[in-house]
Amino acid sequence: MKQKSYKIGIFSGDGIGPEIMKEALKVLKVVEQRCAVTFELIEAPFGAAAYFDYGHPFPEQSRAVCDVVDAVLKGPVGLVHSEAIKIPVDMQPERGAVLPLRAHYNTYANFRPVVLPQSLAHLSPLKAEVIGEGIDIIMVRELLGGLYFGKKVVGKDNNGVRYVEETLRYDEIQIRQVLISAFDLAMGRKRVLHNIHKSNILQSSVLWNEVLDEVAQDYPEVKVVHMLVDAAATHLCLKPTQFDVMVMENMFGDILSDQGGGLIGSLGLMPSACIGDGKAYYEPSHGSAPDIAGQNIANPYSMIGSVAMMLEHSLDMSAEAKNIWAAMQGVFSDGYTTPDLAAQKSGDKVIGTDAFGDRVVAKLKAM
Ligand code: NAD
Ligand code: IPM
Ligand code: MN
Repeated sequence: MKQKSYKIGIFSGDGIGPEIMKEALKVLKVVEQRCAVTFELIEAPFGAAAYFDYGHPFPEQSRAVCDVVDAVLKGPVGLVHSEAIKIPVDMQPERGAVLPLRAHYNTYANFRPVVLPQSLAHLSPLKAEVIGEGIDIIMVRELLGGLYFGKKVVGKDNNGVRYVEETLRYDEIQIRQVLISAFDLAMGRKRVLHNIHKSNILQSSVLWNEVLDEVAQDYPEVKVVHMLVDAAATHLCLKPTQFDVMVMENMFGDILSDQGGGLIGSLGLMPSACIGDGKAYYEPSHGSAPDIAGQNIANPYSMIGSVAMMLEHSLDMSAEAKNIWAAMQGVFSDGYTTPDLAAQKSGDKVIGTDAFGDRVVAKLKAM
């Protein structure tokens, strides 16, 4: 049988990025050995380090890599505030690299799973009875619109008072495409879609909901539940098990997905997939965690989970993706945890970033 071969862009990023990427690449290596596949890894500079080395956080050579690879694995980027302000605002990696990467690939739908099986309820700060039979949510976050990409004006009025205007803009095409992604996902799951919005205030949500009504006609089997975003924040804490697929605009999704990390015990459990109509890229939902960088204590689950999402969505290897999830959950079930999750005082044995990666690799090899 002819061996399949894929080119993967590797953007390790800043802070804990290189540490957790190292573990993700260990897993990718094992996948290569287990499946009839080879990965050609093309590393490229991206983030604050790229700015200091090449004068741009998303340099031309890295854009060129995007164009030749089948998918990109991206680590988190960013610096602590005191360091970030040494970089011109437009060159800071969040604005200068992450948003341009999203625009470059037109990844309008960001899938952020918030998953904690009942057997791992002890990792969550929520009571076991709130976790019930387990949390299994996918938040679908619109990724290319709203305040993130709207027009911005910074100025002073006639009295010398400084002001800023940031525009929340959506058109119906942007709204429709992400809603179709969410309905399609709901069709393959429980056929319940929570639509998160703020139509009691925002006109953008009014248009969003109008478009949703149109799209919903093509999905009569899907039950739509409307929920205001502020109420959704509370419902997530009190009864997370009511949710299956949630869809929302960009900024709502940024905030609620980090809350999702809190629900299951750590942002370190939050991978994500950024998907459009063409190529996709995969990144943890969290940031570069400068507070713990370089100490071998970051949780690599989010980065390894991003590998699993890449295998499923971009490389047609969903069976192996499932094995990776099972291997990671198996490490927790064996009573091991990284320090972020040990905060719940579960009594688990605390292991470092590399040891977690090694255990995932061992589990996978044993499958
Ligand atoms: P953060 O997500 O980096 O960290 C928040 C908290 O979560 C910290 O206490 C951190 O230690 C912890 N944490 C995050 N990931 C973890 C992991 N894998 N294992 C264990 N603990 C983990 O958020 P922040 O501190 O507000 O931001 C730091 C930098 O990251 C900022 O520059 C921000 O802009 C940037 N950022 C980048 C991305 C991205 O690249 N997509 C996403 C979010 C934030
Ligand atoms: C995320 C991050 C990014 C966002 C930043 C780094 C641009 O917080 O992926 O959640 O706000 O989208
Ligand atoms: Mn965020």
